[in-house]
Amino acid sequence: MMSPPFRSIPSPNIWHWPEVYESENRAQDVDGRIPAELQRIAPWDGRTIVDVGCGTGFHLPLFASRAHRVVGVEPHGPLVDAARTRVAGLANVEVVSGSAEALPLDDDSVDIVHARTAYFFGPGCGRGVSEAMRVLRPGGTLVVVDLDVGASPYGDWMRADLPNYDCAAVESFFAAQGFDLTRVDTRWEFADRATLDAVLGIEFTARTAARAARSIPGLSIDVRYRVHSRPKPIGLELI
Ligand SMILES: C[S@@+](CC[C@H](N)C(=O)[O-])C[C@H]1O[C@@H](n2cnc3c(N)ncnc32)[C@H](O)[C@@H]1O
Repeated sequence: MMSPPFRSIPSPNIWHWPEVYESENRAQDVDGRIPAELQRIAPWDGRTIVDVGCGTGFHLPLFASRAHRVVGVEPHGPLVDAARTRVAGLANVEVVSGSAEALPLDDDSVDIVHARTAYFFGPGCGRGVSEAMRVLRPGGTLVVVDLDVGASPYGDWMRADLPNYDCAAVESFFAAQGFDLTRVDTRWEFADRATLDAVLGIEFTARTAARAARSIPGLSIDVRYRVHSRPKPIGLELI
């Protein structure tokens, strides 16, 4: 079998349990703090926005409600199909196969490149950053949203399972590449305990999921995100 022309990093949660991940997406950030921060950094009203690593396309309808054009990019075939099904009725959205390192888009053709829970953007992702800068129009913005592994309690559980994860190195990488950083505190709220436990079960090892479950008294979890953003310069910066 021929391998795809792009790199795809396994994402067990959404690849193997898309229904549970859908429940997780519904529970995430119920107060809408992340969209509010995205609108502050790079408003998408009337713009062309790309969601890289769009998964099943959960965030595409939100973008479509205000954008001129939305493009979801996803390397994993079954998720491309699921995202296309989700947006079938939305005339301004398309979903294409591709990856952060090989965006199937023209130079200077979009206003915002967005990636959410985008672990493929981190140390070593220079090619993805270059690709985003290629497809952005001058003045456009790359926005990377990811979990803040340094923040309690969610980050404590992540670090328990990823003891070699280096929060400082990740943030230094983005800072060295010229990204601004804001931190966004959100609340995940679940409909019932079974759903919450199922989500912990796809995100953590059994041991860590059990520890997390014991420490959560109700149906909500505080989760902090990092939002890294970098504009594409409008012109040559002459010094
Ligand atoms: C944790 S999921 C998040 C999906 C979606 N952004 C969301 O918030 O629902 C990460 C996604 O990134 C995709 N992915 C993995 N490697 C990638 C790469 N190199 N470029 C773009 N997407 C990638 C996975 O297939 C998966 O759909």
